[in-house]
Amino acid sequence: MSTVTQPAVVTTIADLRARLEGRTVALTPTMGALHAGHLALVDEAVRRAETVVVSIFVNPLQFGPEEDLDRYPRDLAGDLAALEGRGVDCVFAPSAAEMYPDGRPQVTVRAGSVGETLEGRSRPGHFDGMLTVVAKLLGIARPAFAMFGQKDAQQLHLVQRMVADLDVATTIVPVETVREADGLALSSRNRYLSPEERAAAPALHRALEAAASAGDRGIDAALAAAQSVLMGEELIEVDYLKVVEPRTFLPVPDDYRGPARALIAAQVGPARLIDNDALYLN
Ligand code: PAF
Repeated sequence: MSTVTQPAVVTTIADLRARLEGRTVALTPTMGALHAGHLALVDEAVRRAETVVVSIFVNPLQFGPEEDLDRYPRDLAGDLAALEGRGVDCVFAPSAAEMYPDGRPQVTVRAGSVGETLEGRSRPGHFDGMLTVVAKLLGIARPAFAMFGQKDAQQLHLVQRMVADLDVATTIVPVETVREADGLALSSRNRYLSPEERAAAPALHRALEAAASAGDRGIDAALAAAQSVLMGEELIEVDYLKVVEPRTFLPVPDDYRGPARALIAAQVGPARLIDNDALYLN
């Protein structure tokens, strides 16, 4: 089935279920505004299963009242054009009423304490809303595999935890971050940046690289190296710069040695950007 050039567009849960009956499915959940980062997820899905579904749904549950739900980029025609010829069988593009017929669902997934740190601290309720829609999408499509980008590392961690904690029969496949030539991680929000902000934004990745290079001198040296890169950037307002233990996603203790992940979030003009990278602390 994955030789179809033009994906079918399915808007109801019943139609998607009927279409996927008896098939081994790989799902790529997205909120649309597809860029090369999403296409890397889609390509991995095509390698994993005979039937590939891309969901496109801007999930109101994961946006706070002050966030960019209304202006979040939506371009279904452009997204379909981007997916053409990539081996995607269908695009699931439900309305909010189809996903949440009674409005906000009474029963939702709670992300727990890790969901209240880092992104969750700045965006209360975000991860509960994200996990709730992901649980619904996994329940609707019942995929053998679901693709998630490493760029949203905390999201990936929490989805992996949900699937493990609730015994969901889907393998979560992490996919490496896709970057511009200057290191800026691809994001649908990059389009909000002015030319000056766009020129400043790669400092986020440079800071992560500096942290990784200094990691063999310990956590304080890694953080100081990252901070010194960011200090010179007036257009970047850092929200957090943290190093976590990858298995728990908790901050590493001062004497920690081993694999770790540095995470950064910053406001760059109108865009809240996040990025992360692996490092080894010694
Ligand atoms: O990463 C995203 O685009 C969204 O958080 C997701 C996983 C599609 C859930 O709405």
